[in-house]
Amino acid sequence: MTQRTAAPFYLDCDTGIDDALALAYLLASPRAELVGIGTVSGNISAAGGARNTLDLLSLAGHPDIPVAVGAHDPQVGTFHGGAPHVHGDNGIGGVDLPTSDREPIEATAAELLVQLAHQHAGELRVVAIGPLTNIAEALRLEPKLPELVAEITIMGGAAMAPGNITPVAEANIANDPEAAAEVLAASWNVTLVPLDVTMTNVFEESHRQELLASEHPVSQALGEMLGYYFGFYIDIFGRACSAMHDPLAAAIAVRGVELAVAPTVRVAVDTTNGPSRGQTVCDLRGLYAGFPAQSGARCQVVLELGEDFAPHLLGTMQAAWLSEEQVAAPVA
Ligand code: RIB
Ligand code: CA
Repeated sequence: MTQRTAAPFYLDCDTGIDDALALAYLLASPRAELVGIGTVSGNISAAGGARNTLDLLSLAGHPDIPVAVGAHDPQVGTFHGGAPHVHGDNGIGGVDLPTSDREPIEATAAELLVQLAHQHAGELRVVAIGPLTNIAEALRLEPKLPELVAEITIMGGAAMAPGNITPVAEANIANDPEAAAEVLAASWNVTLVPLDVTMTNVFEESHRQELLASEHPVSQALGEMLGYYFGFYIDIFGRACSAMHDPLAAAIAVRGVELAVAPTVRVAVDTTNGPSRGQTVCDLRGLYAGFPAQSGARCQVVLELGEDFAPHLLGTMQAAWLSEEQVAAPVA
């Protein structure tokens, strides 16, 4: 049997189809132990995201991980109502999961993150795959958070690639630029996983068919959800496939995939009200000189992987689910 040498992880998400894949990946990875999950409004409301998360956890046989509802509204303005055209009205492509009898805990997502950061001081890894409202709130609740947390990996932004909400802004940052600016200005080790790398690593129809062919209920549910997600991406890629935003951030956080180009640079977020609001301004001028060390830089921006991501994603989930089946039905 493989020994699990897992680090504690807190996941902050807006559960969403690719968030569901990231959650499944983190549950499956032998390098991660999910110790708490917070939700935030983005693809769906924070409350709706918590319901999807609880239902997925129950389906996956992980009923003990605490789930906390976080911020409904961004720091400025109000929640825009989600992205049903991308993720469906229920956030998970209309897939009807069995309703878990669990409810979210009473603490907010920011409170849960602070509590876990103290409990796992110096070890907790944060993966943030929705708007950064909860993380900014946690920084205000506990200014020592950057010292308590080992590192934070964020799916968000666009370095050289176009945005997906405006010409320059990516959804997670565009949905709360003020929070993103605070989080990226804090003194912790940040890895940013922007559209540059998530739009160039796709999940194909053949991969989806592998999920659907599995006997595992989570695998089948994910395959069905991806059918909806592919419907959105068909106009972008011209074929049935999708970007892999959130699971790629999760895999990078657990060091599951090899990085090819990932310089550590200065990153700022535009919080003005002009046309570049929500842009992640990455100082990539070092590109011309092979990215020499940059003073004051602490944000690693992942631009290219050194391997194909989809086989790793599928392989990690299948390995975990296969071993579960073996445990459930031991050979006589
Ligand atoms: O831009 C992609 C991001 O926005 C992903 O996290 C996706 O789930 C949506 O929230
Ligand atoms: Ca997300």
